[in-house]
Amino acid sequence: MRVAVAGLGYVGLSVAALLAKSHDVVGVDVVPQKVALVNQGVSPIKDADLEAALGSGLLHLRATTDPTEAYADAEWVVVATPTNYDDETNSFDTSAVESAIDAVRAINEDATIVIKSTIPVGYTANLRATRGDQRLLFSPEFLREGRALYDNLHPSRVIVGCDESDSGQVAKAEEFAAMLAAGAVDADVPTIVMGSTEAEAVKLFANTYLALRVSFFNELDTYAAAKGLDTRRIIQGVCLEPRVGDFYNNPSFGYGGYCLPKDTKQLLANYADVPQSLMGAVVEANRTRKDFVADEVCDRIMRLIYEGSEERPLVGVYRLTMKSGSDNFRASSIQGIMRRIKNRGIPVLVYEPTLDEPDFYGSEVTHDLESFKHRCAVIVANRWNDELSDVEQKVYTRDLFHSD
Ligand SMILES: NC(=O)c1ccc[n+]([C@@H]2O[C@H](COP(=O)([O-])OP(=O)(O)OC[C@H]3O[C@@H](n4cnc5c(N)ncnc54)[C@H](O)[C@@H]3O)[C@@H](O)[C@H]2O)c1
Repeated sequence: MRVAVAGLGYVGLSVAALLAKSHDVVGVDVVPQKVALVNQGVSPIKDADLEAALGSGLLHLRATTDPTEAYADAEWVVVATPTNYDDETNSFDTSAVESAIDAVRAINEDATIVIKSTIPVGYTANLRATRGDQRLLFSPEFLREGRALYDNLHPSRVIVGCDESDSGQVAKAEEFAAMLAAGAVDADVPTIVMGSTEAEAVKLFANTYLALRVSFFNELDTYAAAKGLDTRRIIQGVCLEPRVGDFYNNPSFGYGGYCLPKDTKQLLANYADVPQSLMGAVVEANRTRKDFVADEVCDRIMRLIYEGSEERPLVGVYRLTMKSGSDNFRASSIQGIMRRIKNRGIPVLVYEPTLDEPDFYGSEVTHDLESFKHRCAVIVANRWNDELSDVEQKVYTRDLFHSD
């Protein structure tokens, strides 16, 4: 099969690598540097499996910035462009998805287009109706950043959404699901073909459940901290209940990363004319948690000032990333803490070795860990790292189990 993939980010590149084991795949991106790296067999993303797969030289994968070259004779086009949340319109900005679809249809009427980007509930059906285009499917992506290709090689499930009243579409959806499952390492991958609107809902409800769970344990921690109780003990006791389970329960500064904050907001927006209390609470809980964490840090700073031990204490932000192994800081929760602290006039120093800029939103950035530890009176860390051990008394973290 000839497959084109629009967008060589976490989703596009991992799907391209998976399919390129046995299909002829051309990736398209608007960033020439990404295209050049992929053509040199180098992953533009920090991801061990992607790096190994691209470097192996075994994939039938090339990249281009030229849509015509990629789309002209493709039988399948996977769209994996960004869908950032637009607070003005209260919805995902789907313009990059539409521009990729426009570029395909300008030169190729026949290709089946599979949207892998996360989109609002009802989006694909609406697009099919308004454009009179029946060759549009949606397949939700469940990968985690840092394990992008791994999660495609070992998928929890493969879901492809279509117009179930159209037998031709159902057959195409089954064919695409089989292509994804065939690329996986695991046998017997759970596979479901369903309506595209249901498939869109699966993606948003799954991520909102994850955000709910993070918020639940964070709010448990807020309660314990406010009442002087041992959060660890409470979580251990709660999670021995098999229906709760001892996983994904480590407190943090809030859920973050590219997907959970925007997907929860989109699902809440989709509830516009439907009664709900919980969906709004999941969005609101993240703000409440960040307010609490920022208050705790500011209290520490105020104590230092009152005690007279520091005149103008500096708060250190240890890493801007969301998780220990992450290679980007899109919507990481520590940035919300940093913003709140700075709004109170407290100066902030950032330690982020992967950021090659002298400042981040007006705060100095350093790569010198020793001077960072020395200069900062309080160090906030969403995730603990043993390199902070010698200044443990300065560190404010809620990473109680030292896990993600
Ligand atoms: N990152 C995740 O963990 C994850 C997981 C599941 C779903 N998703 C969803 O998948 C989509 C993509 O996310 P991502 O993390 O891969 O994004 P990304 O920012 O890592 O990659 C998107 C790529 O698309 C390129 N691009 C933008 N407009 C384009 C166009 N018109 N034609 C070709 N390329 C274009 C960008 O240059 C970029 O390289 C989003 O909708 C996201 O919500 C992401």
